[in-house]
Amino acid sequence: MKILVLNGPNLNMLGTREPGVYGSQTLAEIMSDLVAHAEPSGVAVQHFQSNSEGRLISMIQAAATDEEGKADGIIFNAGAFTHYSIALRDAIAAVEIPVVEVHLSNVAAREDFRHVSVIAAVCVGVISGFGATSYRLALDALIDRLGE
Ligand code: DQA
Repeated sequence: MKILVLNGPNLNMLGTREPGVYGSQTLAEIMSDLVAHAEPSGVAVQHFQSNSEGRLISMIQAAATDEEGKADGIIFNAGAFTHYSIALRDAIAAVEIPVVEVHLSNVAAREDFRHVSVIAAVCVGVISGFGATSYRLALDALIDRLGE
């Protein structure tokens, strides 16, 4: 089983970016913990970060079609794109593979503009507010779902 983790804009700044909101771990640390968490179940986790909407769309498309980039499921922290990118929503809707929306922070408890997710309805589920644990919960949920 292969799971792709996509991280969107500004998540490359974790570690120094608003640590009171996002914690002090870097993205590299969070991703390497996730890879280690997946290892015992024999699941391969690949991860990719981009600040560019177009590159994230291409990665979603490649996960469904491309021999090299193929994945069984996607864990997606779309960052601020979550709240307005219809293009990313359409990309998720266009592929059959399950996508889980994740957030480090509890977006429902933050500013009003973060209460809207334009991608949630085309994802299989949403996990928000557990810091780095959000990714682990999403991974376990995807593994369960794909194993059914
Ligand atoms: C975020 C929440 C978004 O609202 C924000 O724009 C981010 C990070 C999170 O992981 O909590 O960049 O997706």
